[in-house]
Amino acid sequence: MAEVNYRHELVGAFGDPIDENPTGIMMEAAFEALNLPWRYQLLHVVEEALPDAVRGVRALGFQGFNCTIPHKVAVMRHLDDIAPDARLIGAVNTVRREGNAFIGENTDGKGFLRGIREDAGLDPAGKRIVVLGAGGASRAVTVELALAGAAELIVVNRTVQRGQQLAQHLNDKTDTTARFRPWSETLVIPNDVDVLVNATSIGLYPDVDAMPDVDLSHARDDMLVCDAIPNPPETPLIKTAAARGLPTLNGLSMLVYQGVTAFKMWTGQDPPEDVMKSALQQAFGL
Ligand SMILES: NC(=O)c1ccc[n+]([C@@H]2O[C@H](COP(=O)([O-])OP(=O)(O)OC[C@H]3O[C@@H](n4cnc5c(N)ncnc54)[C@H](OP(=O)(O)O)[C@@H]3O)[C@@H](O)[C@H]2O)c1
Repeated sequence: MAEVNYRHELVGAFGDPIDENPTGIMMEAAFEALNLPWRYQLLHVVEEALPDAVRGVRALGFQGFNCTIPHKVAVMRHLDDIAPDARLIGAVNTVRREGNAFIGENTDGKGFLRGIREDAGLDPAGKRIVVLGAGGASRAVTVELALAGAAELIVVNRTVQRGQQLAQHLNDKTDTTARFRPWSETLVIPNDVDVLVNATSIGLYPDVDAMPDVDLSHARDDMLVCDAIPNPPETPLIKTAAARGLPTLNGLSMLVYQGVTAFKMWTGQDPPEDVMKSALQQAFGL
């Protein structure tokens, strides 16, 4: 007779805000498709509650959890170990359980890298790449691009100190050449740039008409334009680039692949990627 087990393995996401986070949709769809007794819960955790929340999920036997704003950096001091690339990025978006230990990982940059390679068909090695933004997403994306052999990374950010620090960090800790460009006026993208990445929140729901202040008119005809923003997938930047005839990669690709990597870390199983992708597309009405 089969063993009786009505219990579910638990994972989830800590964030504030968290209600509109779509990760659970793709995770639950994947658990169902593989018939896994697992559940993914969105957990509204305010900044001050983080230490108690980590203690709570330890006590409840969670298999791991995702972290989003404002916890990606703060969570690190509550974990037992941090993976080397998450340490280099300086942020954790996925926590996995190894025995009784919670290990911090970062799957954002890995997700972006896989998207650029597989969905856009571009190998970042040897490429000159402009990245808008110097926050958590930019740190993950630029570190992984540097580790993947990008020749030059140009970090463009509104706040000078944050941008300078990221460029310095990339120069100190990786083999790439990084430089900072302040963003005080329209950024004209020259024709020697291979890839442009928006890793700012400009264009993120609900500010869906916002467009990063860039001029694409001098860009090379095959420059790839990527947006990290998954909601909405067709940001003004993606639409403008497509209208100009440039190849594009939207933020759904990064979102799916960072989730695919986390799913595999948690369950040890190969996730049904198509199921996860179409669950998200459906959620976004695509
Ligand atoms: N697709 C995915 O899986 C995925 C994963 C992670 C994040 N993301 C997306 O990445 C984006 C950034 O997230 P994050 O965690 O890096 O946020 P963050 O740490 O708060 O950083 C935000 C960045 O955007 C810049 N920025 C915001 N508003 C701006 C404005 N009006 N003008 C110029 N710069 C502005 C900030 O510049 P300052 O330094 O000057 O403030 C900063 O560089 C979000 O849209 C998020 O949805 C996507």
